[in-house]
Amino acid sequence: MKITKICCLGAGYVGGPTMAVIAQKCPHIQVTVVDLNEERILEWNDEDTNNIPIYEPGLSQIVGESRGRNLFFSTEVDKAIDEAQIIFISVNTPTKTYGKGKGMAADLKHIELCARQIAKVAKDDKIVVEKSTLPVRTAEAIKSILDSTGNGLKFQILSNPEFLAEGSAIQDLLNPDRILIGGDTSAEGEKAIQALVDIYRNWVSPEKILTTNVWSSELSKLTANAFLAQRISSINAMSELCEKTGADVNEVAKAIGMDSRIGSKFLRASVGFGGSCFQKDILNLVYISKSYGLNEVADYWEQVIIMNDHQKRRFSDNMLKTLYNTAANKKIAFLGWAFKKDTNDTRESAAIYVADDLINEKAKIVVYDPKVSRKKILADLDYLETRTSEENENSVITFDNPYLSCEKAHAIAILTEWDEFVQYDWQRIYDNMEKPAFVFDGRNILNKVELESIGFRYQGIGQ
Ligand code: NAD
Ligand code: UGA
Repeated sequence: MKITKICCLGAGYVGGPTMAVIAQKCPHIQVTVVDLNEERILEWNDEDTNNIPIYEPGLSQIVGESRGRNLFFSTEVDKAIDEAQIIFISVNTPTKTYGKGKGMAADLKHIELCARQIAKVAKDDKIVVEKSTLPVRTAEAIKSILDSTGNGLKFQILSNPEFLAEGSAIQDLLNPDRILIGGDTSAEGEKAIQALVDIYRNWVSPEKILTTNVWSSELSKLTANAFLAQRISSINAMSELCEKTGADVNEVAKAIGMDSRIGSKFLRASVGFGGSCFQKDILNLVYISKSYGLNEVADYWEQVIIMNDHQKRRFSDNMLKTLYNTAANKKIAFLGWAFKKDTNDTRESAAIYVADDLINEKAKIVVYDPKVSRKKILADLDYLETRTSEENENSVITFDNPYLSCEKAHAIAILTEWDEFVQYDWQRIYDNMEKPAFVFDGRNILNKVELESIGFRYQGIGQ
């Protein structure tokens, strides 16, 4: 089957970058990305590609190159579905906030809506690709909806989970460790798998393209995120023990990471992992395990989340204790709000929870993040529903200059590992702070010896 038109439902952190790279690498394919959110589509179509809704190094150039040529952003969902031979579903699958499975299960309402829309609009056979992260066996539900119309059309459902990390999305998409495609084992299924393989073959070598059955592919995505998050919780657990024993978690991480069986990546102790996926995907895994009666499996993975919550809480508790058990009316400068560097995404960022704890202690939080707006910061706090929007507004000050943020502060907390923080004139910052001047480095990026020689009271994680 020669593929010339594809579309993607959902123009978010995955749909946007993924389709931009496919469009760049496959100039012979027309790629249309659609979303129900008109504002988001308007931003994707902004004449100045610096204003696209997602900050991701290299993305605006790639969009600029292909947009209007073979990459289109639109709100015309039905038209895009009708024209496409392959439809990627890349909508959000957040944790349910209501009903059965509240706080644990993935909310599949957007996925189901997409399936129903495809069923309603399609006039010819289609390949439907699950790009969103989904509970294992979701393909069954999608297939059941698509086959329910009785219109005789044939749909193939593929699972093609995305493994990109924000902040390095373009590099991850251009040079993926692997592409995973799960499909039906029938002849028709194999044909559909081949059609998708052929797209990736435009820039990915064949040995990196892995094909499996649908359920293995769906479950591999949840497994990968669980393993990655588990490494962070493991090193964070050790960081607490390091603080009690005089060991240094950076040294421990280096020492164990040199064991090739363990490997050196993903062993950075921190204030806790954030991001839209680790927590939601593990909670989902826990929920699925429980639903099969696998309580030990569920408890095992839930511990990763419990440890992460503990790490975030421990950070704010330690700040409070060090600040002589009172943060009331103290100015605390937050450097960073995003959940990691090189992204404007703040979903589940540790900064939100640390700020919330400190605002409960009546601290004044002053935030500087190179890519996150005041509006977003306040929306993140409001989402917790701890206090009124007005109270949040009065508790948070934002500056677009780090030096102003730190002026007259009693303490600085590093919440995101932005490279620029390391380059600051820390003497200048120290001179303008209240004394004693504390730095709580939630990312272990600053040089303890250097800061202490300036006069700072420095505390990292696990040191
Ligand atoms: P997102 O919230 O940034 O984007 C999802 C978009 O889908 C939104 O713009 C929303 O308006 C749109 N949408 C919802 N329902 C729709 C519908 N019926 N029709 C058209 N558009 C619709 O989410 P995201 O971060 O891109 O994540 C999408 C999926 O990919 C999730 O399942 C997530 O777990 C997974 N994932 C995310 C990442 C990541 O780094 N963010 C990485 C790998 C996988
Ligand atoms: C993660 C995975 O890395 C991706 O493979 C996956 O596709 C994605 O989730 C997803 O499914 O959404 P992402 O959340 O974008 O990607 O970013 P990560 O680099 O994994 O970082 C997640 C969090 O862990 C961040 O808060 C980061 O600061 C923290 N982290 C990461 C640490 O605290 N220590 C580390 O060693 C690594």
